[in-house]
Formats: sequence, C-alpha cells, structure tokens
Amino acid sequence: MGRGRHSGIEATLKAMQVAYVQYNPAYLDVEQNLKQVEALLEGIEADLIVLPELFASGYFFRSRADLEAVAEPIPDGPTTQWMIDRCRQTGAVLVGGLPERDGDRFYNSAVVVGPEGLIGRYRKVHLFYEEKLHFSPGDLGFQVFEVTDRKGQPYRLGVMICFDWYFPEAARTLALQGADVIAHPSNLVRPDCPRAMPIRALENHVFTITANRYGAESNGHETLRFIGRSLICDPSGRVLHEAPPEGDQVGLTEIEPQEARNRRITPYNDLFEDRRPDCYRLS
Ligand code: ACM
Repeated sequence: MGRGRHSGIEATLKAMQVAYVQYNPAYLDVEQNLKQVEALLEGIEADLIVLPELFASGYFFRSRADLEAVAEPIPDGPTTQWMIDRCRQTGAVLVGGLPERDGDRFYNSAVVVGPEGLIGRYRKVHLFYEEKLHFSPGDLGFQVFEVTDRKGQPYRLGVMICFDWYFPEAARTLALQGADVIAHPSNLVRPDCPRAMPIRALENHVFTITANRYGAESNGHETLRFIGRSLICDPSGRVLHEAPPEGDQVGLTEIEPQEARNRRITPYNDLFEDRRPDCYRLS
C-alpha cells in the first residue's frame, strides 16, 4: 500500500506504537538540535513519532535575518532530509515542524515523512502572536494523509500545529476528512491546551498526539516560556500519556487506530451522522 493521499481503506488495523518527543531546542542551532533528537530517539521503536513545532530551529525569532538563517526548502532542506534518513533507518513515519522557505515566503510548516521520502506538508493556518510578523498564513488547508505502519497497515493521519488547537474547526475538519490520528507539533505557551486536547479527541473521536517543547526563549525584548506537558489522547478523551512541564521525554504508547472509526454513541446516535450543518452558523 502506497503512502499517498487519502483513499478508502479497510478497518482491519492492529495495534501500533506512537510517540511524542519533548525536549528543549537551542535557538538557531539546527545541527546540535538534530543530534539531540537523534540521541533521544536512540533505541525507540515506533510506527509514528511526532516532534515539536519548529523543532530544530527554535521558535521566538529575534529578526527576519534569524528566520532566514534557518528557513529551509521542503524536501531538500537539512531538517526534512534528516527526518527521511531517520525513517529509512527505523521504518517509522515522522511528523515535525520547521520554518519553510518557498521563494520569498516563509511558512510555519510541518512535514510528514516516511522511509520513501516526503509524504506531505502542512502550513500552519492559525498563526500565533509574533509569528504573524514573520510567516505567511498557511495556504494549503487541513489535509489527511494515508500512511502505513511498519507492518504495512494503512491509517489516516491529519496534521495541525500548536495554536490550531484553539480553533475547534481545525481538528473537526481533519476528523471529517477521515483522520484516525491527529499529529500536533507544538510550542505551547498558554496553559490551556493540555485540558483542551482530550476534548478535541473526544468530540471528534480521534487519537491526538501533541509534541511540545519546554524551556524558554527570548526575542531580546520578551521571554516566552513553553509549558511541556506533551500528551497523547484516545477517542474517548482519555489521556494515555502525559509528559511533565519540564524535561526531555519520549512518550511511547500503543494505540488501535481502528478505534477511531466507530463514531456510534448509542444505537440511535452517531457522532458524525447526527451532525446538523443546516443548523450551524460558522461564518
Ligand atoms: C503557538 O502556536 N506556538 C503557541
């Protein structure tokens, strides 16, 4: 089964191993950060690994020049290439955030890669705070990719980045497109997300994997503190794994993606079939 875009697949999935990586990257030191993530992943056997937003570059850019120094084309830049190399060695699918350069535009992007290379990219739709000074808003919408685990079993993977959690339409759009799992690379600074993600998982009946960083970064005028607390939630809203606010951690757990497929709540109710778009006013 190829690793292309969404097409119909059977609900016969078996358990797979999923993980987040929480760590504290050094500002602009891509080489060092990739080495650090490589060390954290040593010996980890997983089908899907989610890395934080802007995981190898750092987040709180002090200037356009700093962003330009680390922004990369996809897939030829060092971060995507490093990720592809990791996938080839381990068979895993990796999702991670990076500053994308496309001509004279910059996007806060995340890539999905596997052993065969780039599977897809997502450009952050809801930019947070000073990201608006540096990045163009995402122009690719929300996408679900059909990927395979190491046994070759396909599942559907949606991607959103950090502040997208605040907009329930993001996770909803991914779930309506058939996502079983939502990968959520993050650099969270507000404390509310770890309370909200179990609800995003519950109301959409999907698995969510939030990979956050910890530590602090200054742009020269202001310091942002990142809250850690990466977490994995199941479709009933249970937290399967949660990291502490500080400290490196690879959170690894087993999930059954097919659990996300049955959205029946009672013999009379189905979470998606019971929706009433004719009654909703969303704009
Ligand atoms: C965020 O979107 N990085 C808070």
